[in-house]
Amino acid sequence: MIAHGIRTLGVLGAGQMGTGIALVSALRARVPVLLHDRSQDQVTKGLAFVDKLLEKDVSKGRISSEEAKEARDRITGVDGVHAMRDVDMVVEAVSENLSLKQKIFQQFAAELSPEAILASNTSSISITKIAASTMPEGVSASSDAGKKTAGRVVGLHFFNPVPVMKLVELISALQTTSDTLDRARSFATACGKEVTTSKDVPGFVANALLMPFINEAIMCLEKGTATRDDIDTTLKLGMNHPMGPLQLADFIGLDTCLAIQETLYAGTRDSKYRPSVLLERMVDAGWYGKKSGKGFYEYN
Ligand code: CAA
Repeated sequence: MIAHGIRTLGVLGAGQMGTGIALVSALRARVPVLLHDRSQDQVTKGLAFVDKLLEKDVSKGRISSEEAKEARDRITGVDGVHAMRDVDMVVEAVSENLSLKQKIFQQFAAELSPEAILASNTSSISITKIAASTMPEGVSASSDAGKKTAGRVVGLHFFNPVPVMKLVELISALQTTSDTLDRARSFATACGKEVTTSKDVPGFVANALLMPFINEAIMCLEKGTATRDDIDTTLKLGMNHPMGPLQLADFIGLDTCLAIQETLYAGTRDSKYRPSVLLERMVDAGWYGKKSGKGFYEYN
């Protein structure tokens, strides 16, 4: 059997992250994927996006049309977590909301095989808290059953756009077993990613560094230090960043940036992570960035 032992993968959430994870798993790791989202429309949109990306890969000569067809045939939309009961691993990629993730992981623990790895693509929420939510009432954390249940929870943090970005951050909860970590790392490698490891601290490595940077850029704009375009151009041309921080914030989603910053601020109680008022107001206005058509920039 392959090192990671993942014969079938479940992906919960068919937004930009979940769809990308489904694609690299089917195309690179060549694993059958069951994709679910509470919105069927989102699954349909996600699969259409997968078709588009595979067609582009074929037209650029990166894969053959047979490989594209095989990858596409490996992804199936399903109507609930119950349909994932036989998967060897599931990756949750829903919005950054602790109580939502806790409910989902309770459902995973109740409905999936006790051997399945339960991974979260969270950008900043404590994997230890998510793992704790899988413990059935009355089961002791020191019992074999308790260790096994929470020990299969792990953070597997992909980056957007998933098919392009080469990194996965691997995060161990206090409870995660070494076997779970090894298999999750091996699976991410099979998806064609480099893997870095982070402790379970708010924001892990990536967002503990990225979010204060984005927030400082928003504060620069708020204070009138420079215009939107001058802030972004400074970072693009002065530091060779592919996108300026304001454009990147739009790309990630301003609601997601705010949720991550709130988790960082609450988790560290350090004022350096306090979200800017402008970011809060933009989210209040429903200006979520690229996905809603308006953020710091406008999108058609
Ligand atoms: N999905 C899949 N592929 C995409 C894509 C998407 N959403 N957007 C762009 N691409 C692909 C394009 O199709 C193109 O592929 P080809 O080479 O096959 O043509 C390639 O990316 C380059 O795209 P473009 O030529 O259109 O534009 P670009 O050169 O400006 O690159 C970019 C676009 C790759 C997004 C680049 O601007 C970039 O790297 N930006 C920074 C992205 C980044 O920092 N991501 C991390 C965000 S943080 C995060 O995700 C984690 C978190 O927790 C918040």
